Amino acid sequence: MIYLKSDNDIDAMRPAGELAYLLLEEIGPQIKPGVNTEELNTFVHNLTLQHGGISAPLGYKGFPKSVCISPNAVVCHGIPSQATILQEGDIVNVDVTPILGGMHGDSSRTFFVGTTHSAEVQSLVHTTKQALMQAIATIQPGVRLGDIGHCIQSIAEKADLSVVKMFVGHGIGRHFHEDPMVYHHGKPNKGMLLEPGMTFTIEPMLNLGTANCYILEDDWTAITKDGKWSAQFEHTLAIRSDWSVEILTLPLSHPEQTRTQT
Ligand code: MF3
Ligand code: CO
Ligand code: CO
Repeated sequence: MIYLKSDNDIDAMRPAGELAYLLLEEIGPQIKPGVNTEELNTFVHNLTLQHGGISAPLGYKGFPKSVCISPNAVVCHGIPSQATILQEGDIVNVDVTPILGGMHGDSSRTFFVGTTHSAEVQSLVHTTKQALMQAIATIQPGVRLGDIGHCIQSIAEKADLSVVKMFVGHGIGRHFHEDPMVYHHGKPNKGMLLEPGMTFTIEPMLNLGTANCYILEDDWTAITKDGKWSAQFEHTLAIRSDWSVEILTLPLSHPEQTRTQT
């Protein structure tokens, strides 16, 4: 069942979304060679509290930390640890979900660690972000969930990347994960029609090699089957009653914001 939101409900989700944005902005400069992901977890945890929020991942279905941190071949749900030390040339996804005012804001970015990267890895990261932003740009009256998935899949396949199918985007609001499931692959003109009041994430994970993943013994860490690297970007979106599409995890004035300014 989908919980449709009023424009007021959407306004109430904006503080959580903007806190997610702030956490990712602030974590960026902390990501450098030699840092361990437990330190990054502590940073996100404390900054969330300082802004009056709480970290939704902590204790969610038993997840032990406040943020998911997924380097290189980790597709998603990486558990921060002192033993995971970032190295020059790595990539790392940081996925934050603060709760503020009873609402969730869910966003992630893949960062480069240091400065040296292969062209292939750069293309992986940039294509994944582009797939998310292009998918957001397709949202308009008449668009279906399958169109979103198809947009992402087409961009991935053109760049010779695969789309992870084991994890999907989701409705979001008072709950971390609400209906509907938002697939990152699909067929044009198929699936549920989008409608005003929907608030949901799009969070494509694209891989250099196989789309297949397995889960470690810790029951969370998802890793590519072939060990090749994976990137992800995520935003929380809202469709307002006037059909303007708002990226809740970007400030309204941000240049990448899609909402038609009136
Ligand atoms: N933030 C993830 C998402 O985008 C969910 C993480 S679940 C957790 O949906 F328990 F690992 F936090
Ligand atoms: Co999400
Ligand atoms: Co997330």
